[in-house]
Amino acid sequence: MVTFLVDNIGELVTNIPGTGEGGPLGIRRKAAVLVEEGEVAWIGPSRYAPAADRRIDAQGGAVLPGFVDSHAHLVFAGDRAAEFAARMAGEAYTGGGIRTTVAATRAAGDDVLRDNVARLRAETLRQGTTTIEIKSGYGLTVADEARSLRIAAEFSRETTFLGAHVVPPEYADRADDYVGLVCGPMLRAARPYARWIDVFCEKGAFDPDHARAILTVGKDAGLGVRVHANQLGPGDGVQLAVELGAASADHCTHLSRDDIDALAASRTVATLLPGAEFSTRSAYPDARRLLDAGATVALATDCNPGSSYTSSMPFCIALAVREMGMTPAEAVWAATAGGARALLRDDVGVIRPGARADLVLLDAPTHLHLAYRPGVPLVTKVLHNGVPQ
Ligand code: NIG
Ligand code: FE
Repeated sequence: MVTFLVDNIGELVTNIPGTGEGGPLGIRRKAAVLVEEGEVAWIGPSRYAPAADRRIDAQGGAVLPGFVDSHAHLVFAGDRAAEFAARMAGEAYTGGGIRTTVAATRAAGDDVLRDNVARLRAETLRQGTTTIEIKSGYGLTVADEARSLRIAAEFSRETTFLGAHVVPPEYADRADDYVGLVCGPMLRAARPYARWIDVFCEKGAFDPDHARAILTVGKDAGLGVRVHANQLGPGDGVQLAVELGAASADHCTHLSRDDIDALAASRTVATLLPGAEFSTRSAYPDARRLLDAGATVALATDCNPGSSYTSSMPFCIALAVREMGMTPAEAVWAATAGGARALLRDDVGVIRPGARADLVLLDAPTHLHLAYRPGVPLVTKVLHNGVPQ
């Protein structure tokens, strides 16, 4: 296999704590990275760089671990641009529009769904996302959830069964029956294609008892746990996530002091999704409180056609810095190493020998520019599994 030397790196963000500068970012200057067999083989000063088949010139710019987007809903058909326009004219987001996408998704053929995931996956990769979690949740029948996950698994090993997104219309007033379906036949059909299970625990979606029942059977079936928690209002989602040892509690927009303390005392990552607050014109979560309490914070896009139709991790970094009290260094860490923690991965979100060679090259001297220059396409090159894209 061809070896690559990424050379002439002005600032290398490794995320290896205790090395170099920048605290947790482990920054090295004037560095080079050797890539072999899809993995990082060597990191060191440019002047000691070993020979390689091909040289990639970083032109004195910053190089970061590829972004880890630990929360995305890519398997769907259609869009909800009109709903977005109505919101920007003053309507509130309730999650009710999920059913619109469910109808479009059910009516779509496999090719339409697959093409949509491929389009969005390509879009994310161009912007530096090398690992992405993909949820089901717009099928909500046994067959449609299974095919959503089958298609998701063609693009990522981080697949999440979200049969408990909302109660579909044909089960209106029969939530118990729907939960029985999710816990039984739907979970069995989804299981071969899923690594994780997730529930939208929120008023208007699933209450804590239903959420606990679904997450527990999923966990017993060998799936890892993640929870859509405290997005639209205060609630029990975060406490439930911590109680069940979830890898991640996602959204975390409306948190009590107890919620923050519970997260800080646990291994559950608080995954913040500022694209959702941007696109629903809502108040952003307070990342500062979480960080100051000692919680681990990740950033992700929540890419979906309703509440957050962005695929851009740099955009989320910029929002987190401008609106959520994070420093640029904290936001970059959260979008790389934080996402990896939220997926319980130690081979991504870091540039160390043996890690996957997922690298992002920026047309900028430092990681600060991701927040400092919002909306500018700074990602010039991406290596994914050691392969230049
Ligand atoms: O994470 N909150 C629930 N699910 C998505 C929204 C899905 C939609 O509106 O279609 C979210 O924001
Ligand atoms: Fe979501």
